[in-house]
Amino acid sequence: MTEAPVDDQALREEIAALLTAARTRTSGLTDCVAEPDLVRQHSPLMSPLVWDLAHVANQEELWLLRNVGGRDPMHPEIDPLYDAFEHPRAARPMLPLLPPKAARQYAGEVRGRVLDLLETVSFSSGRLVDRGFAFGMIAQHEQQHDETMLATHQLRQGPPVLSAQAPAPPPADVRKLPGEVLIPGGPFAMGTSTDPWALDNERPAHLVDVPSFYLDTTPVTNASYLEFIAAGGYQDARWWTAEGWEHRQRASLTAPLFWERDGAGQWLRRRFGVTEPVPAAEPVLHVCWYEADAYARWAGRRLPTEAEWEKAARHDPAAGRSRRYPWGDDSPTAELANLGQRHLQPAAAGSYPAGAAPSGARQLIGDVWEWTASDFLPYPGFAAWPYKEYSEVFFGPQYKVLRGGAFAADPVACRGTFRNWDYPIRRQIFSGFRTARDADFA
Ligand code: AVJ
Ligand code: FE
Repeated sequence: MTEAPVDDQALREEIAALLTAARTRTSGLTDCVAEPDLVRQHSPLMSPLVWDLAHVANQEELWLLRNVGGRDPMHPEIDPLYDAFEHPRAARPMLPLLPPKAARQYAGEVRGRVLDLLETVSFSSGRLVDRGFAFGMIAQHEQQHDETMLATHQLRQGPPVLSAQAPAPPPADVRKLPGEVLIPGGPFAMGTSTDPWALDNERPAHLVDVPSFYLDTTPVTNASYLEFIAAGGYQDARWWTAEGWEHRQRASLTAPLFWERDGAGQWLRRRFGVTEPVPAAEPVLHVCWYEADAYARWAGRRLPTEAEWEKAARHDPAAGRSRRYPWGDDSPTAELANLGQRHLQPAAAGSYPAGAAPSGARQLIGDVWEWTASDFLPYPGFAAWPYKEYSEVFFGPQYKVLRGGAFAADPVACRGTFRNWDYPIRRQIFSGFRTARDADFA
């Protein structure tokens, strides 16, 4: 998306392509398993896949056909089934959900009508459609659920049904990379007031003064995380917050989710149905906030704040302005970042040199979501738009912010301003982290 006024026809085509790409992914994630696997609950943390499918269609009908198009509800009786606030995920398998065939048919009918509407809609008929916003919101929503469905696949037991090419090996300079980079102190513009498809929690742009700090050049690797485990990090309350230690005890945490030790004491990791030795060079994945925070303290460091993370990812010191991505304003490509489920794993730490930030920090966008130290809170001047249940009802200290997107996130729902959030105990998400420290001369 560019910020200049866009020719309406070009915008219509861009939207149609993005909606179609999201549906191709949704279909790929739901056509690869048999019906019982679509309706089954693979974890109490997740919805049945068939719920996500019809929920995506129901939100698309609500926002585009009803709210933009002024159409009547197609099946008002099913609305409560797919309202995320009426039924917690754990309760969704017991609902009288549309069976797979009916869910697919509903989704297809909604989409057909949306593409018809798109041909005639006027983008100047109000804020909801200004520069295509509602369509962009729905494309992002479907891709967010595609990431959630991928997490459901990761929790699913049984032989693999998904596969993808491994990322290219990292460049030769990786061994010579400095462990950390300096982000010089000073104000930067956090958030955005101009990005046409930015969601409400990314708004408005506001100046934040961030003192000098050092940030890890790459996300923390499995090799480094294994040192924390080997050093007894999980047995030492010194590294954990009181709440974190309590959770570590209660949940018997000893390693990232999906890790296990074989008879010889080697760490193995299961990913999309394949078990293999933990790959040392990859960013650590499936850790909760408490584990990330404990690791950072053990390493004599801390998690970056959300403002520090965004400054590292967006601020261009040469031009003195914030950009959309670490590398500039151009859209992500396969050379810049690991996004869009192109690979079903993070690339080795130090990959994507072309996508580096001005400081030299790599992989801020893509590969793994990065836990930050910060609670999920509104920016000064926040206004809920277009509905309170996207962000506002979640603001508060119970959620921690994650930044940067993972290999599982699509570019349409990932940018330097994009904010994700979850409970600090969660690890079924594609979460990793990097660490930071104050620069003493700040
Ligand atoms: C932004 C990923 C936390 O999945 O709960 C999907 C996105 N909001 N449907 C979530 C979302 C409504 C949201 N996260
Ligand atoms: Fe949703």
